[in-house]
Amino acid sequence: MSLSFNIKQGQRIDLWLKASEPAAQPLFSIRVNGQVVFKIQEAPRYFQYFTWTSFQDGVATLEWLPEYSEISLCYTWHPDSLRARGVTFIATAGQDLRLMSGQDIADEYLREPLRPALHFSPRTGWMNDPNGLHYKNGEWHLFYQYHPHSSQWGPMHWNHAVSRDLYHWRHYPVFLQPEQNLSALGATGGAFSGSAYIDKQGKTRFWYTERLPAYDLYRGYREVQKMAVAHDDYDKPEWVKTVLTDLPAGVDCDFRDPKVWYEEADATFYMILGASVNGDPAMLLFHSADSERWTFHHVLYVAPGYFRENGGRCVECPDFFCLDGVWVLIIGVVGYTEPTTGRHNLLFAQTGTFRNGYFTPSEQPLQTLDFGTDFYALQTWGEDDRRIGFAWLYNWATQKPVDSAYSGEMSLPRRFHLNTQQRLCMMPELPPESLVVSRHALDDGDIWVNEKGCKAGIVTFMPAGGFRLTLTGDSGQQIILEQEGKNLTLYEKGRDDGRYRAPVAGVSDVTLCFDAGIVEVFANQGSVCGTRRYYSCSQLIRIQLSGAPAQLTQYRSTYSQE
Ligand code: FRU
Repeated sequence: MSLSFNIKQGQRIDLWLKASEPAAQPLFSIRVNGQVVFKIQEAPRYFQYFTWTSFQDGVATLEWLPEYSEISLCYTWHPDSLRARGVTFIATAGQDLRLMSGQDIADEYLREPLRPALHFSPRTGWMNDPNGLHYKNGEWHLFYQYHPHSSQWGPMHWNHAVSRDLYHWRHYPVFLQPEQNLSALGATGGAFSGSAYIDKQGKTRFWYTERLPAYDLYRGYREVQKMAVAHDDYDKPEWVKTVLTDLPAGVDCDFRDPKVWYEEADATFYMILGASVNGDPAMLLFHSADSERWTFHHVLYVAPGYFRENGGRCVECPDFFCLDGVWVLIIGVVGYTEPTTGRHNLLFAQTGTFRNGYFTPSEQPLQTLDFGTDFYALQTWGEDDRRIGFAWLYNWATQKPVDSAYSGEMSLPRRFHLNTQQRLCMMPELPPESLVVSRHALDDGDIWVNEKGCKAGIVTFMPAGGFRLTLTGDSGQQIILEQEGKNLTLYEKGRDDGRYRAPVAGVSDVTLCFDAGIVEVFANQGSVCGTRRYYSCSQLIRIQLSGAPAQLTQYRSTYSQE
């Protein structure tokens, strides 16, 4: 198998390769202008990372022995054009070696009916939590938990994508890898979740958890916090170092997912971490003058006792930010199952004040952030008037049931605000106008039919009383959002028992996004949200709303080449 293309000095090729059969020749080699400049003579039976940088302009010829080795991920890029183009994937599927164009990627995506049109997903591999989200020089940087070698969770890397409009993403090089090859150790762990901060010199710093090589997924592992500073072009970290290892008293092995910010008033960096303290899911606060030497401050928040009583083990992916002078704390609680409904994977928000390093919860009860349960590991970035967040659309209970090149999707970008009752509200940042295909006005009771199927659309309406919105999918099944009495319920007819619901006094407005089986509901100006990832339906063929007239906007995909 071989591939030739023009290459420029400074251009890089990254790949992860493993040997499958003993071979006499190099498994992979690169020639430039006819001369061998790089060869993988031998490789282990687990994926290993290789990287090559060109020192000249010319024609590079890649040669690969697919009968003797496997490549899980391969791409090339030049630092000078990374910002404009991102990386160019080199396809290795079907034992073909090929530079992938935008059209190739679109074709590949279109072959997967469940590939969303608007939501971010990795091209291949496994994705979970959003990480290191930030906005810099007019661009959004979204990093994410990534396993390149299969569409299952495994040794964690940070992958990276960049966008100007939160919808069209360019793929960047993998940014962080586990500090050791965990496959060689037969272990799990790696570069777990964390956050970003832009320092006064304009450098982007990250703090994240390294789970050290672990042989048990649930107990006895060691988690430490690291700091990384990105090169200006974000191709890789300039340096990485371990900055926090000591567990405060009462903290067991869960000690992860740092969110760091700088508090001008206290001239202090603060870091929160998810943990369990003496068995209760909790959030820890650390402080630092320089963002590198951290001191334990105190346990900032302990989840109410019923979390622990109902299986809650620890807090994950905490977030903490100020909106219009009110502090908002967000937690996910691993293991917790809501006793009344059986729902788990829920996120919760608590408002309050934060003074001199202490959080005082307000009178407002803990808010369930999303009634659908496929919305987890939320991470936000920004100021009062534009705080944006992404969450991972997944629930371990309903893993992707189909064979696919990838697993994991992000939510739509959501913008945060507090309403007059101090509830945390999330509304989608709408896709750019350039993606709109058509707009339709539906009268109350109208049935909108599209035999060809609608992959992505947004329905908005303002019901006067109870309503029922029926989305009929290509396999005939129906997804229904309805308000009856005091509940807003989202369910799949004949499959769900109605547990995905929120109590409401009334519903004044609804925005519902459908995208290849993903349904995100935003009601009452985003104060009631519900997200479900249905794998049973990829296109809508009928939409019917009774109870209000509606607007439907159909969208083309972000990868469409039209
Ligand atoms: C949440 C989480 C985090 C952890 C990461 C590992 O989904 O478990 O707590 O950092 O995923 O992939």
